[in-house]
Amino acid sequence: MILPSFVKIVEVSPRDGLQNEKMVISTDTKVELINRLSQAGFKNIEATSFVSPKWTPQMADAADVMAQITRRPGTIYSVLTPNMKGFEGALAARADEVVIFGAASEAFSQKNINCSISESIERFEPVAAAAHAAGLRLRAALSCAFGCPYQGEVPIADVVRVAKRFAEMGCHEIDIADTIGVGTPKHLRAVMQAVTEVVDPARISGHFHDTYGQSLANILASMEVGISIFHTSVSGLGGCPYAKGATGNVATEDVLFMLAGMGIETGVDLEAVVDIGQWMSAQLGRPGGSRAGNAITAKRSTS
Ligand code: HMG
Ligand code: MG
Repeated sequence: MILPSFVKIVEVSPRDGLQNEKMVISTDTKVELINRLSQAGFKNIEATSFVSPKWTPQMADAADVMAQITRRPGTIYSVLTPNMKGFEGALAARADEVVIFGAASEAFSQKNINCSISESIERFEPVAAAAHAAGLRLRAALSCAFGCPYQGEVPIADVVRVAKRFAEMGCHEIDIADTIGVGTPKHLRAVMQAVTEVVDPARISGHFHDTYGQSLANILASMEVGISIFHTSVSGLGGCPYAKGATGNVATEDVLFMLAGMGIETGVDLEAVVDIGQWMSAQLGRPGGSRAGNAITAKRSTS
């Protein structure tokens, strides 16, 4: 079995981690989170979303966040853009990468972006063309690739069909997302293998919510079939407001600890991320949500 020697981590806490929080999080706190993540060595940070503030109020300060962050040269700051209005906001805010987001399940597509899968593709096409014309990176998220909170099972063929359309649109990366964390390694491998038959594995990433505690096993299973990009969130923050029961993304600290133990490089400073996870959890008034982060913190206080 050949595993990658380097894994790219896309840190999604400023966007996926915070979008579902009910308390008002100040723009200053979001900016500080992103700046600290930049300093810790992440080369790709999902910073915010240019979505309707009526749908996702926590992301209403997207333009301010992007205006106030300190950009680290070489770091990609990504933002979600469901339509041309979102793209225009992203372009004005000097985002490096725009993310269109569709689903493999019709029911989830309706709940999350208020249109069918085929309507969403029609909306994404001009966004993709505009991103290419402006020289921005383009990424696509594909939700409910392993199960849907409304539809239940999702056929692998549906995942492959949408992934292929995203690849044809020229997406640099396509995120195969387990929105509600129900995938288990055998299923995971089957989906990833089917997708990599139509899309180069170097363009595929795994975006796993850890609701059922399967994410580390699923990351290992993904690496075994050639995937080397994963999305993570400090302290396991996150969840989609339109996916009933979805909890946070896999905790960055846990993934970094596993990869370091396996001799796989990420370029990210685990100790700094532990501090960020503990700090951000305190901002939200809750204990740290990463097992590795809490263990490292506890060990520090006893040594
Ligand atoms: P709609 O209501 O059908 O849109 O929403 P519309 O075109 O009819 O416009 C309605 C209003 O929204 C108008 O304003 C527009 O101007 C405004 P009004 O005239 O009523 O004042 N509007 C916008 N405002 C700001 N930015 C925009 C924008 N677009 C329209 N881009 C829409 C359709 C797609 C906009 C809406 O459904 C939406 O914003 N959805 C996003 C929901 C969301 O944020 N979900 C979470 C992110 S996805 C996720 O978490 C999954 C992921 O992590 C992967 C995984 O885990 O599965 C990526
Ligand atoms: Mg997500």
